[in-house]
Amino acid sequence: PPPWTKTLVPESYNVTLRPYLTPSEQGLYIFTGSSTVRFTCKEPTDVIIIHSKQLNYTTTEEHRVVLRGVGGAQPPDIDRTELVELTQYLVVHLKGPLEAGSLYEMDTKFQGELADDLAGFYRSEYMDGDVRKVLATTQMAPSDARKSFPCFDEPSMKASFNITLIHPRDLTALSNMQPRGERVPLPEDANWSITEFESTPVMSTYLLVFIVSEFTYVESKSPNDVLIRIWARPSATAEGQGSYALNVTGPILSFFAGHYDTPYPLDKSDQIALPDFNAGAMENWGLVTYRETSLLFDPLSSSSSNKERVVTVIAHELAHQWFGNLVTVAWWNDLWLNEGFASYVEYLGADYAEPTWNLKDLIVVNDVYPVMAVDALASSHPLTTPADEVNTPAQINEMFDSIAYNKGASVLRMLSDFLTEELFKKGLASYLHAFSYQSTTYLDLWEHLQKAVDNQTAIRLPATVRTIMDRWILQMGFPLITVDTKTGDISQQHFLLDPDSNVTRPSEFNYLWIVPISSIRNGAQQEEYWLQGEAQNQSELFRTTGDEWVLLNLNVTGYYQVNYDEDNWRKIQTQLQTDLSAIPVINRAQVIYDAFNLASAQKVPVTLALNNTLFLSGETEYIPWQAALSSLSYFQLMFDRTEVYSPMQKYLQKQVKPLFEYFQTTTSNWTQRPETLMDQYNEINTINTACSNGLSACEDLVSNLFAQWMGDPDNNPIHPNLRSTVYCKAIARGGEREWDFAWEQFRNATLVNEADKLRTGLACSTEVWILNRYLSYTLNPDLIRKQDATSTIISIANNVVGQTLAWDFIQSNWRKLFLDYGGGSFSFSNLIRGVTRRFSTEYELKQLEKFQADNSDIGFGSGTRALEQALEKTQSNIKWVNENKDEVLRWFTEHSD
Ligand code: BES
Ligand code: ZN
Repeated sequence: PPPWTKTLVPESYNVTLRPYLTPSEQGLYIFTGSSTVRFTCKEPTDVIIIHSKQLNYTTTEEHRVVLRGVGGAQPPDIDRTELVELTQYLVVHLKGPLEAGSLYEMDTKFQGELADDLAGFYRSEYMDGDVRKVLATTQMAPSDARKSFPCFDEPSMKASFNITLIHPRDLTALSNMQPRGERVPLPEDANWSITEFESTPVMSTYLLVFIVSEFTYVESKSPNDVLIRIWARPSATAEGQGSYALNVTGPILSFFAGHYDTPYPLDKSDQIALPDFNAGAMENWGLVTYRETSLLFDPLSSSSSNKERVVTVIAHELAHQWFGNLVTVAWWNDLWLNEGFASYVEYLGADYAEPTWNLKDLIVVNDVYPVMAVDALASSHPLTTPADEVNTPAQINEMFDSIAYNKGASVLRMLSDFLTEELFKKGLASYLHAFSYQSTTYLDLWEHLQKAVDNQTAIRLPATVRTIMDRWILQMGFPLITVDTKTGDISQQHFLLDPDSNVTRPSEFNYLWIVPISSIRNGAQQEEYWLQGEAQNQSELFRTTGDEWVLLNLNVTGYYQVNYDEDNWRKIQTQLQTDLSAIPVINRAQVIYDAFNLASAQKVPVTLALNNTLFLSGETEYIPWQAALSSLSYFQLMFDRTEVYSPMQKYLQKQVKPLFEYFQTTTSNWTQRPETLMDQYNEINTINTACSNGLSACEDLVSNLFAQWMGDPDNNPIHPNLRSTVYCKAIARGGEREWDFAWEQFRNATLVNEADKLRTGLACSTEVWILNRYLSYTLNPDLIRKQDATSTIISIANNVVGQTLAWDFIQSNWRKLFLDYGGGSFSFSNLIRGVTRRFSTEYELKQLEKFQADNSDIGFGSGTRALEQALEKTQSNIKWVNENKDEVLRWFTEHSD
């Protein structure tokens, strides 16, 4: 962080902003503003450095700012001011020094563009019937508050904010706090109103929010008397799309108040669904902003997974209202703690609101294993980043990656598990009490957890919380635990997907971890054991005889993978094929995931991993199936352009057929839905797999359903749960007519859940010209909203026919994409990953290297790391395909009938 963080310390701001929701004669939308910031000088200085981005100042004719002393302080004269584009600073050079201990105020008047760029104070538009509506809203995080008014835009420079919005009188103004009294008309123009808000508590700038819109709301009171409102477009509210969010918010707020042992810090909790929004949601204090798909739900047309998305995102953002907002990590290098924590407890909050859904199990398939695939690369990085390596907005945005979110969540879950949730909660509450309205580093949390540990005797750790956790957060990657059940030897080593890759990042812990190891033997749980150092003999726990087997890492609460001697693997396979219920559901998934990863790393033969999928013909649970499908999706990516693909499809068709028929029967020929959420997900996976692998009963099913809909467009007969799959498969099998129909439905959809399913389905076409035309639409905001451009391109790249088209497209349009679609924003790493996922030939590697070289002038912004990872991944893919293709072909051929 910049060194002057401590020189000037802001205390409060008065900010007035006025967005113009109709364009000027030149077609430009603007906002005007004025601001006063009051700050204390801690060390004498003759320069004021404050963030400012794309603002034009009109304060006085002479200077961009006016400076005043408070309480008798004499302000020095202003020499000159300058705006530095690169650092996004307004620099005020003074003729003399500000004095330590004195209080000053600085006034500014300014103007900015209310652009459709999804950043800072920006404009969002939507159609209400035939009428185009415009609203003004904000996305400050991580570094765009400075684009709406000059501010000390760093998370630790907390202050209290007095916000005033001047807005068209028929619209509503919202902010973090409630209005202070009634709104009043603007004296000089009664078409405008002034809404002044209560002062905020001391808070970070990135959590501010200002919105002017015609939105309406549904409301209730939480058990602790907090006002809860869900805001949306009037028609969406009228259709009841906010009800589900409203129903779960109260319980989630009470859950967290209890979990943190701290009341909700504000007196209202607003949540709003915005038509244009870059991220999925943003935890602005007291007024959380969402994409429509993350907040709105329509009982008739949305799917179960849409519903799960809503409850999970709400839980995530509300978790931040304390952890992140009340107590804030001091600088962005510690972002992993903020996001990792919310990504862990979102499962707890959502589970509390929907206790019958078994949501907590999903962390294994959504977070733990997906991130291990990234963290097993030599180009991975530790959770922690030194503060001085995070300076520019692009570097800050790069912090928001899957390591921060998913590994952060996984490692905190492991910590909570070995401490027990009860102790973890004690330490957590103590941390929140100690640092409310202040800033921290992750060490502060460890210290309070340690206190909780020291205050009891039931849980004994092999070392301090900090010593254990250092190994998980200061070094990248994770251990592979290897057990030899003949001897009981257990050892650890850094797990690398490509064993020949070069780890250039040294670790002070030599890539050894302190590992909590739970295990079961023949279905019975054994006592917990800590592996320290490289290897030990633990024959009591891990040596087996006869057909006894052991399985480590119960429910995959530990962030590591496990390998066994072949004998033990074989015994596990036998157990799974004879009576799989002896192995917990999550561990049935683990057996598949671990074996496939081990095969990728050449630690076990690829056939061993494939053999671990044989039991699936008797498996009816979602999580093990999901493990297999996501593991095999790698095979699909590597081989769907080769002769391996056909026998692979035959094998999958054979494996999924019993389940397809099971669901067909139990849902009365697809007319009802399975009861539990997990079964519903499994049903969707089943249809997807059956159709993707040519099961004709499935192909007929989707084509018929889609044809029925085309015959009667006003009555969609397809159940919302099945729509994503049916749209995709039917569009893939269809031609121009099907595509055009779906495109029209997309254009007319009023529910974004529906529009999104169509938008993704449209990418499934197998016509090259259709896909090329669709790609061109992604850069036309009148057709595809900017917020959806990158994800649409990724969907097209996922399609084997679209892969090269999408890659060509981003190569030719990189400049535009980068500059107009926020190369600094975090979706860019997804884009690079998305279009390069299939890369597995020397030719593709060369193209990727050329792409890197050709664009070195503008660079890759927040996609820089993703590009490095793509290069490494491509190389290891090339090798993996070379080494495994023949074997895989043989195995699938042998097992395809
Ligand atoms: N703080 C983030 C939103 C964010 C991300 C702001 C990147 C600025 C830059 C928010 O809490 C978040 O994590 N949102 C997620 C959804 C969540 C359920 C994982 C998102 O937007 O994808
Ligand atoms: Zn978050």
